[in-house]
Amino acid sequence: MEILHVSAECYPAAKVGGLADVVGALPKYQTQEGAIAKVVIPAYRNAFRESGKYSFELVHQGGLWLGHDWFHFNVWKESANALGFDFYQVDIPGLLDTPNVYGYANDTERFLAFQIAVLEWLSEWQHQPDIIHCHDHHTGLIPFLLQYGRKYSGMQHIPAVLTIHNAQYQGQFGWDKLYLIPSFDLWKSGLLDWNGAINPLASAIKCAWRINTVSPSYMEELYHSANGLEGLLNTERSKARGILNGIDDAVWDPSADPMLTTNFGIKDMTKGKKANKQALCEEFKLDPALPLFVFIGRLVGDKGADYIPEAVGRTMFENPGSFNCLVLGSGDAHIEWLMQQARHMHAEHFGVYIGYNETLSHRMYAGADFLLMPSRVEPCGLNQMYAMRYGTIPIVRSTGGLRDTVTDFGDEGGTGVRFFQPTAGDLHHAIGRALELYGTKTNFNKIRKTGMQQDHSWNKAARQYMDLYTSLT
Ligand code: ADP
Ligand code: GLC
Repeated sequence: MEILHVSAECYPAAKVGGLADVVGALPKYQTQEGAIAKVVIPAYRNAFRESGKYSFELVHQGGLWLGHDWFHFNVWKESANALGFDFYQVDIPGLLDTPNVYGYANDTERFLAFQIAVLEWLSEWQHQPDIIHCHDHHTGLIPFLLQYGRKYSGMQHIPAVLTIHNAQYQGQFGWDKLYLIPSFDLWKSGLLDWNGAINPLASAIKCAWRINTVSPSYMEELYHSANGLEGLLNTERSKARGILNGIDDAVWDPSADPMLTTNFGIKDMTKGKKANKQALCEEFKLDPALPLFVFIGRLVGDKGADYIPEAVGRTMFENPGSFNCLVLGSGDAHIEWLMQQARHMHAEHFGVYIGYNETLSHRMYAGADFLLMPSRVEPCGLNQMYAMRYGTIPIVRSTGGLRDTVTDFGDEGGTGVRFFQPTAGDLHHAIGRALELYGTKTNFNKIRKTGMQQDHSWNKAARQYMDLYTSLT
């Protein structure tokens, strides 16, 4: 079976968040399951392409109309199998040759052109896949165009699968841009529409042969809270599944991770984590003798980053000098400002790095004692699984994938601290419980080790995806 994943991100070629980690890992595990899994993403002009470390061969040249504009495009294949699967990049000069993945005024046009280029390439390719697996709204018009695009009728038989990584983002645009979409039978327009706009995510939910979310709990939550798509998801319920993400245990392995100061395994966990914490604290001028809480992620409301300063601040006022907090992330200007304020107020105990830094994130998972994940919405979440693998105890709000992967240390075999309401008060209480746990060294170490022993590998999910495809072919 041949699967083609179509995505906006893929680690290590282009990463903004967990979507990249998933698309960079799942195909490797699908290959182990006996499938041939390939990935195609845009050819951004970022460090991956500019580093000169990877070699590419040109496998296709074509052209596409985006409304009245003609664009030439190239498809490049990474030629040394460096990612562990066939990896393709679509280069559209003038649209996709940007340093960043998202954030441009013409993102709608950029990702529309990407999808059209993929379809144009596929329609001429000798190796048409058995399954086209689309990820999130950036690739959401593909299932519709495969079925109803006049030019692509030769591919109607190929099943399209949609994975919803985050239903908050739907990629809507106005009907005035309809002329950008390749021609189709106009009486099918309703399949593009949701609430009076063209909605790529809604269209994919309607047209994909199967849809899935990245955890079972998130699938259930979407039926009553999906940023306006609840009714649609209930209608399409029969083709929906929840498949829990895994983590790439080759990339995320504390005993071999080249980004760490000191590698460690379960046997030398205490020593190894201490050495990593020491180095991290030196860099941020924090006292390594104190428990260290970290947050890594997008500084946005969905991640609950906004109420961290208040919750942490309250504990710091109650017990001055009892712990340190270190934040890595970027996002909403207001939340970045709140973090900087917290640093000013608790100078010796609060470190902040505004920006994206892959190496630092690995060092934080390794050096921290606790990871804060107070998400309001969390379709799966990978950070909590990385944290456990690196012997760091996650403090999570019980929602979506966090609920499916972390049990409270008060329960048998528990590996984290769970709380329920996304408020500073509940998080403050959870931090208090974590500090008590830290005080009981034996229990604290036992829970860290139990976390390291959890199996969050991709094997199970890879098999579930294979079953899902098999049901379609
Ligand atoms: P999401 O995709 O919603 O942002 P996930 O938990 O699925 O959340 O994945 C986030 C991924 O992005 C993890 O690999 C995390 O380590 C990484 N990450 C997030 N923010 C940063 C940052 N500022 N620097 C480095 N890595 C980051
Ligand atoms: C999205 C979600 C996150 C999930 C990731 C990978 O970015 O916000 O929860 O882990 O996709 O599926």
